[in-house]
Amino acid sequence: MAAFGARGTGKTAWVKQEIARQKPARLMVWDFKHDPSLVGLGEPHSSLPGFIEALHAKRFSLRFLVDHTRDVHAQFELFCQAAWVAGDVLVFVDELPEVTKANKAPPAWRRLVNVGREYAHGGKVKKVAIIGAGQRPAECDKTFIANCDVVHCGRLGDHGDAKKIAGSWGINPQELAALPDLHWIEKRADSIEMTRGVLSFRNAAKAAKPKP
Ligand SMILES: Nc1ncnc2c1ncn2[C@@H]1O[C@H](COP(=O)(O)OP(=O)(O)OP(=O)(O)O)[C@@H](O)[C@H]1O
Ligand SMILES: [Mg+2]
Repeated sequence: MAAFGARGTGKTAWVKQEIARQKPARLMVWDFKHDPSLVGLGEPHSSLPGFIEALHAKRFSLRFLVDHTRDVHAQFELFCQAAWVAGDVLVFVDELPEVTKANKAPPAWRRLVNVGREYAHGGKVKKVAIIGAGQRPAECDKTFIANCDVVHCGRLGDHGDAKKIAGSWGINPQELAALPDLHWIEKRADSIEMTRGVLSFRNAAKAAKPKP
């Protein structure tokens, strides 16, 4: 899944609600900007070795706080390799343009995106589900976008971005460019229909509670 939209349009908030809905048994979060709104989503780790060690548990919900004093790309490569080895995990990468470019996907990320749907590793069949978020689709890896089951989009500030997404969906770019904060349009790969909605926080707390 991908979530796009200008800053403050509700990407991270929507992904949090989606994760609360899915209730994954195993969750890895790449928290690039140490986002206050991600507090509470997974146990925070600022050491990558400690984070990777914690992936040995059967169930986990972990958030890696990227270390900006070290090579971010090297950390992302290890994060993606660890997701591959762990398997059966939901990976949420926020601020995707910080680690990918339209025409450049880091090797371990590309492998997750292309092959992660189902693969054999260590004698087991494993799956990795991915949610990526970024302000501009033009700055995110194209292969990831092309492989998405769901593209969820808030207002796009850049006219070229709006034109491109709207063009591929057959809608007016102006509609994407003029969406108010928290309003979204969503397209599933298996349908030609678009869904439109507004993010609401009324039922979010309820959805986050585990089922008895
Ligand atoms: N639980 C909540 N209740 C009410 N408002 C919220 C809640 N969570 C987020 N918001 C509001 O939703 C808006 C969108 O925030 P969000 O962090 O999702 O933006 P974003 O699209 O991820 O932006 P950025 O690109 O800067 O990360 C903000 O105005 C935020 O204050
Ligand atoms: Mg965000």
